[in-house]
Amino acid sequence: MAGLDTTLKKIRKINILPTFPDIVDGIINLIEDPMSSASDLAKNMDPSMVGEVMRVANTAYFGMRSFRKITTIEHAIAIIGYEHLSHILLQMPFLKMVQVNDEAFDRNGYIRHSIACGVMAKIMSTTLHIANPHEVYISGIIHDIGIIIIYQHFRHSWNAINSLVCTKNVPRLTAEREVLSVDHGFIGAVLLENWNIPQSITEAVKFHHSPLKTQIFKDNAVITHLANEFSKRIDFNKDFSNFNYFLSRHRDYIDYMVDLGGHFSPSNEVMFFEKIYSSLDGVRRYLHGTMEGEKEVDDTCNCC
Ligand SMILES: [Fe+2]
Ligand SMILES: [Fe+2]
Repeated sequence: MAGLDTTLKKIRKINILPTFPDIVDGIINLIEDPMSSASDLAKNMDPSMVGEVMRVANTAYFGMRSFRKITTIEHAIAIIGYEHLSHILLQMPFLKMVQVNDEAFDRNGYIRHSIACGVMAKIMSTTLHIANPHEVYISGIIHDIGIIIIYQHFRHSWNAINSLVCTKNVPRLTAEREVLSVDHGFIGAVLLENWNIPQSITEAVKFHHSPLKTQIFKDNAVITHLANEFSKRIDFNKDFSNFNYFLSRHRDYIDYMVDLGGHFSPSNEVMFFEKIYSSLDGVRRYLHGTMEGEKEVDDTCNCC
């Protein structure tokens, strides 16, 4: 078992994403300032991000909306729209660390789960009038970055954790704490704190599995937690055949949300599920259309 000091020392040495704090700042400004344009974000992108945005804009999914090949970043951003753009920019720096089609890491499952969590966190926040919707959108999308850090920078521990999870049925969080002394929420938050990401986001990442343990920004942590738990229930292969099926499968989740402080009336309950359904269906189509060449996986992922 690695001691806490050793683990912290190793995390603090990770210096792979110098532009990430600018990206987070840019996205917060973009969604909060109606005068800012998506192309403002382009100024903070590194070359590999520009490349990925161009690649996505030229996939068949977006290609149908444009009559010609997209050759400028401004055109690519206009085609993608800032919501999908923020998905790409918040995820991509971390996903660069994970090879496409790596058998040891369910990359597609991770992306689906993370984007679903961010999208649901924002909808929950606006429906329940709890927390800051822009901040929980970001904390939702990056809440499990600690898992990628363990996978990439603690490979020996990653194997030991997976062995406990798969052969001894130990819950992933327990296995992480046993092997590394801390869990992936803590590891992700330490990394984000090193990059001076706002505490309203890092606290939600740190406590997304135990939101009542934090004293500050508790609402952001609660919403990120609720969105994470709901996101784990989503079956992207089956849930989107029709809305009534989706509603019948997930309506009981309201009880869990109410237990943690949510307020629902019968009218906003159905509206809430309608918003979740249409937003996640949009995410599902987007991911299906833009992950060309990537292997289809089932919904069993390394997410937590
Ligand atoms: Fe998690
Ligand atoms: Fe998660």
